[in-house]
Amino acid sequence: MRNLKSPLVLFVFAVVIYGILVSIHYTTSLFYQNGRRNFVRHQNTNLNVNQKCICKSEKTGKVYDFCYTDPQNYSSVGKKFDCVHVDTLERLEVLNYREPLPTASELIKNEEEIVFVSTSSDDHYQHSSKSYESVRKYYPNHKYILYGLHMSSEYIKRLPMDTNFEFRQFNTAQYPEYVSQWLQYRFKPLIMAEVSKEFPNVFWIDAHISMKQPNVVKTFFEEVATNRSSDDFSSITSFLDTGHSNFAVLFPELLEYFPSNSFPLLKMSEQVAAGIIHIPRTEHTLQIFKWYVLCALEEKCMNPPGAQIYCNFGPNRYETFANCFRFDQSVLNLLLLNQFQNPHKYFIKLNNYLG
Ligand SMILES: *[C@@H]1O[C@H](CO)[C@@H](O)[C@H](O)[C@H]1NC(C)=O
Ligand SMILES: *[C@@H]1O[C@H](CO)[C@@H](O)[C@H](O)[C@H]1NC(C)=O
Repeated sequence: MRNLKSPLVLFVFAVVIYGILVSIHYTTSLFYQNGRRNFVRHQNTNLNVNQKCICKSEKTGKVYDFCYTDPQNYSSVGKKFDCVHVDTLERLEVLNYREPLPTASELIKNEEEIVFVSTSSDDHYQHSSKSYESVRKYYPNHKYILYGLHMSSEYIKRLPMDTNFEFRQFNTAQYPEYVSQWLQYRFKPLIMAEVSKEFPNVFWIDAHISMKQPNVVKTFFEEVATNRSSDDFSSITSFLDTGHSNFAVLFPELLEYFPSNSFPLLKMSEQVAAGIIHIPRTEHTLQIFKWYVLCALEEKCMNPPGAQIYCNFGPNRYETFANCFRFDQSVLNLLLLNQFQNPHKYFIKLNNYLG
């Protein structure tokens, strides 16, 4: 009897174990799938995200929405950006920032924290050193960082000797090769994102722009404190206007990525300069920067087919297309206008102070 019984017991035992294993396998894989689905849904509860717009990070497992949605119309969704850019956005901490970040009003308080940032290439050296001198005249001790665009050692040798001046050669190795085509201005959003990872209170000033009067920062801070309470205003602020509309310098292909709700508004609205802006590291800034940086990385976004910088303005610089594009500036303006619908929300006119 013993000899008969024991194979039977073993057989039953084996069947039971097999059953348990199979059911564990199905439960865990189902659980895993549901978990993933819920995570995607949860992250984007209010946005109605098309699953085709999702990019997943191989590094962190996080998922992101890579299609821009017009903030004024949630059914108006742009073309998807390439998921290869996830790594760069995570490296720049534009998507995966460590919370909590300060608010703009917390940052627009302490003048001492301001860091001036600019860029130059060899052929812009004259402008750049003039701009630097003008800043130093009024801000002798603030940190000033100059990013070099493949600047040669001959020019690097001539840079200021100043303990609060820092030169950094912009490292393009970690970006697509077209980032080194300087006339597409992709370097600007990328350097802005790099530097604001380190410094929460950046004052960006292009090589062509100089300070003409003292108290630029103080005037700006006072205007914010007096007239611009709350979240109604943009965290990113520009200080110079351009004398033309957004429409005049907008290559329409850009709208495939960033759809806009209103052509009349694009024609009416003044484009503001991206050559001098305040960039506080806040959540709102990073929400804009996500798209600004993605556009710089995507081949056809920052450089729509046929785009070029020389404008052919008609008698009206607002109503008609001048067949030119302002690259980083056109993109930043479109993002801010879509969000705020009014340039005064992201512009403080300091034309008397700067030029
Ligand atoms: C919102 O966007 C959709 C899709 O582009 C469009 O059909 C619709 O007319 C827009 N709604 C408004 C109010 O502009
Ligand atoms: C606030 O706005 C008013 C009205 O536009 C202006 O006259 C005033 O100078 C502003 N205040 C500051 C501190 O800039």
